[in-house]
Amino acid sequence: MSNRVVLVTGAARGLGAVVARRFHEAGYRVALADIAVEAAQSVAQDLSVDGSSACAIKLDVTSKADFEAARDTLLDRWGAIDVLVNNAGASRVVPVMEITAEQFDRVIDINLRSVLFGCQVFGQYFATQGAGRIVNIASLAGQNGGSATGAHYAAAKGGAITLTKVFARDLAPCGVTVNAISPGPLDLPVVHESVPAEKLAQVIASIPVGQLGSAAYVADAAVLLASAEARFATGACWDINGGLFMR
Ligand SMILES: NC(=O)c1ccc[n+]([C@@H]2O[C@H](COP(=O)([O-])OP(=O)(O)OC[C@H]3O[C@@H](n4cnc5c(N)ncnc54)[C@H](O)[C@@H]3O)[C@@H](O)[C@H]2O)c1
Repeated sequence: MSNRVVLVTGAARGLGAVVARRFHEAGYRVALADIAVEAAQSVAQDLSVDGSSACAIKLDVTSKADFEAARDTLLDRWGAIDVLVNNAGASRVVPVMEITAEQFDRVIDINLRSVLFGCQVFGQYFATQGAGRIVNIASLAGQNGGSATGAHYAAAKGGAITLTKVFARDLAPCGVTVNAISPGPLDLPVVHESVPAEKLAQVIASIPVGQLGSAAYVADAAVLLASAEARFATGACWDINGGLFMR
């Protein structure tokens, strides 16, 4: 069992819960941070009944103070933090010409301001330790403009990829790496909830590899980027999109 500690945002369900599970299986102590803290708690309990290697933390990623509080809680609890996965995200699908100021700001806050605050708070802490890993979950939408997810979401994810490079450059001399992963459509609840079945069949047919992506594989990529040995990979964006976008 390693002593490494990871905090995963948006870990109450979906990709975040899978990421938390894979880090736990890799021997990490895992903090599952979410606004839906009860759901996060139930995933945490599933991983560790006595809470010794998994715990839930209430954290709204739009709040810098919440990131600071989560950092302090974890340092009190486990004495160290090694990895941050900025995974929380959300979108409301609205045609681009109809997006209101409020809708735009909300989606930017959850998907982009979150990455800024997470990288600021944990990047600064990691820099003082001389080591740390940050993995930002971006999206194919941030690279190709997206289709079913909304322009505000796509713009935010493009911004997350750019912030990844800015923080990677800033933190590289301090032993801290910052990378992004850009998944295409994954076989996850949110995809089945938001895309009607007949449309989903068309989406799958349009993917060159002919299937939705595996959340577990994306999680394993995050574990790999977070390893202590992964010193030379920074500022990168790992595309996992079934061949939908190549560059
Ligand atoms: N599902 C996909 O196909 C797909 C593809 C590309 C990228 N992504 C990205 O992967 C990440 C996870 O997506 P998912 O499919 O698991 O989504 P999801 O909606 O199933 O889960 C998102 C989680 O984030 C939490 N969350 C939302 N707002 C929050 C906030 N303000 N503070 C803290 N937590 C908050 C939710 O409570 C939920 O637990 C997101 O960043 C998403 O953009 C997903």
